[in-house]
Order: sequence, then structure tokens, then C-alpha cells
Amino acid sequence: MPDPREAENVKGVTIPLALMATLAAGSALAAPTAETIARNCVVCHGPKEAGQLEIPKIANYPARKMVEMLTGFRAGQKEATIMDRIAKALTDEQIQALAAYFANQ
Ligand code: HEC
Repeated sequence: MPDPREAENVKGVTIPLALMATLAAGSALAAPTAETIARNCVVCHGPKEAGQLEIPKIANYPARKMVEMLTGFRAGQKEATIMDRIAKALTDEQIQALAAYFANQ
């Protein structure tokens, strides 16, 4: 029979570690530069944000339109397969920063 206290200890170690990882990710998200966030966008929007397959190009994307699209996705007002969920993770400040960043790519 495994000692139940041992199982608790294992949990006691596991949970703080998981929490630390979450907090580390959270603090990385708290004040990231547009460039840091943009690395996640490139995964889908392609090298140099030039778009690929069905995914539109976002390099040199007009800043005002980027804000409009991202806030629209976030509010569920623009049709999206995935961008609604991505935009929900972004604050207004991050959207502004991304818009400025991609406008100059
Ligand atoms: C998981 C893949 C994926 C990631 C990651 C991603 N996008 Fe998208 N993006 C898409 C898809 C697919 C569309 C088309 C709309 C839809 O189906 O959601 C799109 C559409 C857009 C549009 C609208 C383009 C247009 O003119 O229609 C903008 C702006 C945009 N994405 C910006 C971003 C930004 C900024 C990021 C990073 C924060 C990002 N995307 C991350 C897949 C992605």
C-alpha cells in the first residue's frame, strides 16, 4: 500500500511547480513587447507574416484595421475559426502595440 502522506507530498511538490510555470507564463504575458507577442502570430501567419494557405497576410497591415479586426474578433463580432480565441487573450494595450508593430513590417 502506498503511504497516503507520500502521495500528498508528491502533490505538494507538483502543484507549486505547476503554479510557478503558470505564473512565469503569466508574467511573461503581463508586459510583453509587441515583438514577443508577434512571434506567436508568425506561427500561423507565416514567415515574415506574409500569410500562408488560408491565413491572410498581416505584414504591413494598416494599424487602424488591425485594431478593428482584433477587437472585432475579441468581441465575437467578426467571423473567425481561431482568431476570436487568440484575440481574447490580448489587452487593448497589446492590440495597439501589435497594430503599430505589424504596420511597419
Ligand atoms: C493558430 C493560428 C493563428 C495564430 C497563432 C494567429 N492567427 Fe491571425 N488569423 C488566423 C486565421 C485562420 C485567420 C482568418 C480568420 C479566422 O479564421 O480566424 C486570421 C486572421 C487574422 C487577421 C485578419 C486578417 C484579415 O484581413 O482578414 C488579423 C489582423 C490577424 N489574424 C492578426 C493576428 C495577430 C496579431 C496574431 C498574434 C497575436 C495572430 N493573428 C495569430 C490564424 C492565426
